[in-house]
Amino acid sequence: MSVRAIVLAAGRGTRMRSDRSKVIFPVAGQPIVCWVVAATLDAGVDEVVVIVGHDAEDVAAVLPEGVRTVIQDQQLGTAHAATTALATMGDVSGDTVLVVPGDSPLLTAGTFRRLLGEHADGDARCTLLTALVPDPTGYGRVIRVGERVRGIVEEDDADEAQREIQEVAVSTYVFEGEGLVDTLADISNDNEQGEYYLPDAIAAMASEGGIAAVAATDAQEVQGVNTHEQLAAANAAMRRRINEEWMEAGVWMQDPDSVYVEASVRLESGVRLYSGTHLEGNTSIGADTEIGPGTLVRDSQIGTGCKVWFSVVRGAEIAAGVEVGPYASLRPGTVMADATKAGTFVEIKATTIEEGSKVPHLSYIGDASIGEGTNIGAGTITCNYDGFNKHRTVIGDRVFIGSDTMLVAPVEIGDDATTGAGSVITKDVAEGVLAVERSSQKEIPGYADRRAQLADSEGE
Ligand code: UD1
Ligand code: MG
Repeated sequence: MSVRAIVLAAGRGTRMRSDRSKVIFPVAGQPIVCWVVAATLDAGVDEVVVIVGHDAEDVAAVLPEGVRTVIQDQQLGTAHAATTALATMGDVSGDTVLVVPGDSPLLTAGTFRRLLGEHADGDARCTLLTALVPDPTGYGRVIRVGERVRGIVEEDDADEAQREIQEVAVSTYVFEGEGLVDTLADISNDNEQGEYYLPDAIAAMASEGGIAAVAATDAQEVQGVNTHEQLAAANAAMRRRINEEWMEAGVWMQDPDSVYVEASVRLESGVRLYSGTHLEGNTSIGADTEIGPGTLVRDSQIGTGCKVWFSVVRGAEIAAGVEVGPYASLRPGTVMADATKAGTFVEIKATTIEEGSKVPHLSYIGDASIGEGTNIGAGTITCNYDGFNKHRTVIGDRVFIGSDTMLVAPVEIGDDATTGAGSVITKDVAEGVLAVERSSQKEIPGYADRRAQLADSEGE
């Protein structure tokens, strides 16, 4: 016997008012449908089939490898979706079929495991996940006679008394494979929406073998995303969940409500995150590193004991004991070795900075390499672009670049060299020399007196 999962994700999501399928909108950086698929896989199912239709190619593109998609050309309803999937799944009569909604990112593997466990322990034909919600508007209501579940009535088809019911269905079911295809084939679309409702399978099965219902422990977990408001709420809930896990793992957060850590990010214990920190994509942060306030880090590896504040860091590799910011922008290809610094109003791109070197103030360094123990003076710029091509700047070890040096690439500065402040360096500089490029300073004596005289005569 295997457990085979069907994820319902073919619908359009009209209320999002978008051409894109709602299931690919991100929650904590990961498409909604991927959360659901990951939770089913985590719960130990043997196969996951995602039923796609609207925006099918884009939905298929975000799914992990090994997850099969089935196209539902016309979205005739959730029962039709399940039937379409089952038609491609061979004989399921000896199996258990878990059906889950592709639009509910907060559902957890634990809940699926609990549902599958209760189903395996009982003898019902279907075990249904339900939730008690304060406002059941929009949900299918669970109809019980006494204790027994008798069916589900959709909002549009419910009478006034049924609309008062707060126990709702959340599109999450475990079915016995045996007889499932036949039961679904008997469902009609004679209802308000003219759709084939999967919830109608419940009434059909209630008479033969019965329905077991399992209540969700957390009403928020079953919240689907149908609107942008619900998308924002799902992001907030996932953020709290992720942040709580990191805090349990030893991460300090100044204000968890303003710390945004995507699911893909890895943190070591002892990381300190100040308010307004956004950690995204393939990012990792080492122990005792402080990030924020006001910082975005995307697709970057940051080592231990660093401080990165009020800065934007993308595609960078940063070793240990590095200081970045305030107000630095590190762009892709920035590689900073131990004990280096990119300070205030500094932009760095495609540049390697070796151990102990510093770019402390007001610089643009692009397409460059900087050796060890070098200091780049305030206002230094690598002029890497001649309007047609990018060129490299190579700076050696223990170099002192004077303030406001323009390094016109391609250019090489030898080890232990110095450039004079304000120089425009267009030629390679040899090891150990001082290169100065500027006109010599003139002095015009008596100038202050002349100015004073001029002012007096103007005043007359
Ligand atoms: C559905 C349920 C309702 C439940 C609610 C919240 C039905 C008829 N109603 O209503 O009982 O309370 O979800 O869980 O099932 N989909 C397809 N193909 C289709 C139609 C829908 O794949 O032909 C997918 C959608 O992409 C979505 C899911 O099924 O992921 C639910 O569809 P949706 O239209 O959101 O149903 P609701 O009206 O919310
Ligand atoms: Mg829905």
